[in-house]
Amino acid sequence: MLIWAVGGGKGGTGKSLVSNGLAIRLAERSGRVTLVDADFGGANQHTYCGLRNPPANLGRFLDGKATLEELALETRIPGLRLVPGNLNSANTDGMNSAQKLKLFRHLRRLEADHVILDLGAGTQYDTLDAFLLADVKVAVITPEPLSIENFYLFVKNLQFRQLSSVLAEAHLRDRARAIWKDRAAHGIATVQDLARHLSDLSPAFGEAYARENAKLALHLVLNDVREFRQVDQGRGARSAVVKFFRVPTELAGFIHHDKDLWSQFAQGPSLVLKGASFALRNDLDSVLDAILKSRAAREALP
Ligand SMILES: Nc1ncnc2c1ncn2[C@@H]1O[C@H](COP(=O)(O)OP(=O)(O)OP(=O)(O)O)[C@@H](O)[C@H]1O
Ligand SMILES: [Mg+2]
Repeated sequence: MLIWAVGGGKGGTGKSLVSNGLAIRLAERSGRVTLVDADFGGANQHTYCGLRNPPANLGRFLDGKATLEELALETRIPGLRLVPGNLNSANTDGMNSAQKLKLFRHLRRLEADHVILDLGAGTQYDTLDAFLLADVKVAVITPEPLSIENFYLFVKNLQFRQLSSVLAEAHLRDRARAIWKDRAAHGIATVQDLARHLSDLSPAFGEAYARENAKLALHLVLNDVREFRQVDQGRGARSAVVKFFRVPTELAGFIHHDKDLWSQFAQGPSLVLKGASFALRNDLDSVLDAILKSRAAREALP
């Protein structure tokens, strides 16, 4: 089974649209897919799936009152199920660490070939942890500078979060904090510099960090493209992440702006993508192909 996470930092870039589209196409092509709305405080994947008032949601799982299998609703697409997001307005704080561990354990046990997590905006720990846990990491940005700026912040926070969990396991957190505080004196400017410094101090830490780091490969999707020259923004963002953060990143493709998409939401409960333009659905298909192809290529590496 593969767990996919769709995130990227800024709000409204199209994470829900892309996770919905990838889930639908995967289900149509190859079988059992469960889409999980993991956007705490902003759940709306049920609307994308054409389900107005889901009877129960992830909140019941977090409260220990239902299993994920019990919460997974059939959708109109054969093979695609949805675990609706926590819509309990009183509980938008996300998960504590026990709930998080339990969720991840149970996601792996779902009866599905693909589990796709639609993540919220921002860099909350829940979002970063879910993204880091996923086998396939998809980041959605738009060509606007604010979205790209938030994406860099997202990547930076992913690295910090990853580093901090390896440090905790190696009991090096306090040491690292002290070094970071005095970083100028150590010639440290970035997370990578800090990790290198610590690897010299502790080869065991170095090995564990390298192992985790190797899992951080991104598939970047540039959404809401209105003019062809905007594609350069996606290429630029990819190069910057590779150059400055040293995170392997591939541009999985771009998705056109669909000027009539908004009106699909007003047309009663139906699959939003059903009414989307051919170009948009075609783009989603290309993105899916590119991600699957790049994973296959990566797995074939010796
Ligand atoms: N390619 C596109 N063409 C036209 N409209 C789009 C496109 N992508 C997204 N939208 C619209 O932009 C809005 C935000 O999209 P979406 O809900 O997928 O973003 P999000 O990243 O999941 O937002 P949030 O951070 O709030 O979860 C929606 O109204 C959606 O229909
Ligand atoms: Mg969303």
